[in-house]
Amino acid sequence: MQAAVLPIENLRIMLVDDDDSVREALTEILSRRGWLVEDFSNAESAITALKRENYGVILADVNMPGLSGMDFLHLARESAPDVPVVMITGYPSIDLAVESIKFGAVDFLQKPFKAEELEIVIRKAAGNSVRAPRPGDKTRAIGTLPEMARRRLEDKIKELSILHTISESLDEVSERDDIFRKTMDIAQIIADADMAFIMVVEHDNGKLVVKAASGYDNRDMIGAEFSLADEPFRSVLAKRCYSYYMAPGGSLGTLVPEGGPLPVLLAPMIINREPVVILGLAGRPGGNEISSDALTLVLNLTAKASLKLENIALSENIFSSIIGALNSLLNALDARDTYTKDHSHRVTKYAVEIAKAMECPQEVVDSISFAGPLHDIGKIGVRDDILLKKGGFTEEEREIMKSHVVRGEEILRPLNLLVSERAVVLYHHERWDGGGYPKGLAGCEIPLVARIFSVADTFDAMTSTRPYRQALSLDVAKDEIVKCRGTQFDPEVVDAFVVSELLKG
Ligand SMILES: [Fe+2]
Repeated sequence: MQAAVLPIENLRIMLVDDDDSVREALTEILSRRGWLVEDFSNAESAITALKRENYGVILADVNMPGLSGMDFLHLARESAPDVPVVMITGYPSIDLAVESIKFGAVDFLQKPFKAEELEIVIRKAAGNSVRAPRPGDKTRAIGTLPEMARRRLEDKIKELSILHTISESLDEVSERDDIFRKTMDIAQIIADADMAFIMVVEHDNGKLVVKAASGYDNRDMIGAEFSLADEPFRSVLAKRCYSYYMAPGGSLGTLVPEGGPLPVLLAPMIINREPVVILGLAGRPGGNEISSDALTLVLNLTAKASLKLENIALSENIFSSIIGALNSLLNALDARDTYTKDHSHRVTKYAVEIAKAMECPQEVVDSISFAGPLHDIGKIGVRDDILLKKGGFTEEEREIMKSHVVRGEEILRPLNLLVSERAVVLYHHERWDGGGYPKGLAGCEIPLVARIFSVADTFDAMTSTRPYRQALSLDVAKDEIVKCRGTQFDPEVVDAFVVSELLKG
């Protein structure tokens, strides 16, 4: 079993990159970890420094003008063979990165990378700073360097292959809870840990709540709560850095068993610069430590899962901003025509009832639920003197009113809604016999969601009281709709409407 990678303090890092902004960014990231960074803008000055100073790790760009990254690597290996070198490469120069491992680099980082990945690679390099053979070393057998390079390459390929599998596994899930569970399951397998758990940070009530747990015999861990102020959680969250240690049994309450020191890993997942989740792995008293390779993979896994969660949070933010903007538009419409808003929500509810009575797939119900309240949003573009007119439209006014479906679809088009969601807005005034608008579609040419919405829309119009007429009773409204079965409305939709909950009072 390999020794575990423990936090490395007082690490002195040489950073060589010709790009000022890259050096600045990397220095900031590495310094935040408490490491001392000395940066150099060219290979020549770095080699000079390397001959008189000691460094724990060298981080160098492959592509540099003048003395290139590869030239630098050769010289660095001669001047300081014990110092591990990590090369940074852009995507097109991956071959060069592989080449760099052949010539003695311990690892490479492929741009773009996250701060967490950088940290993992640096920790791994510093932890593995076993003296590598120097070129021309007479004490070692000829062929040792290629052998070591071959092993490093094999390890790197294996690591990249596992990381690729991890990425693919995470790509398969999109719900937050599924990502938690998958991250926990993969981490447990990689680390060969006896127990694994996921805790979510709840800042509002100062608690960590267990959302997923594995390996706990007959104990329901889900929902167990811990205080954010208690160690070791407080330190992990404050440092935003993983903690791996031999814990006295029972030190984390029910999360680790009693009975003696056991290996525990707590790794925070950072989303929008805030630690929001802690992944925990634990062995049993006297159990094996997590190997450095496994730890590297687990930390890569949490970095990838964090990115995935961050993307979900970003999409949700964008989506809720869009919904907020649409609600503002609806409110603006409601201020002019108070009937519309209540009508929109009622019609949506009715359409959902009919869709359920038809046993439609959930996607149909979801499309109606989302787009229903927006179906008349195009009326925002209709002038007050027409919108608020109580009947008696001229031909021109009627055409302007009809244009609300096309205007509505135009308003929503940039939002990339589903086809079925846009169909609710665009086609809710089409008729089964082809006499509707805007396109005069007939029968099943009209999307199902719009055929359902059409019945619900008419039913609500008849059963609502308007300033200029009383509401019709449910029975009268039902008879009117049944009369239009096969002309205005899809017969199957009318049949479902008749047996739906809508007519049961
Ligand atoms: Fe409409």
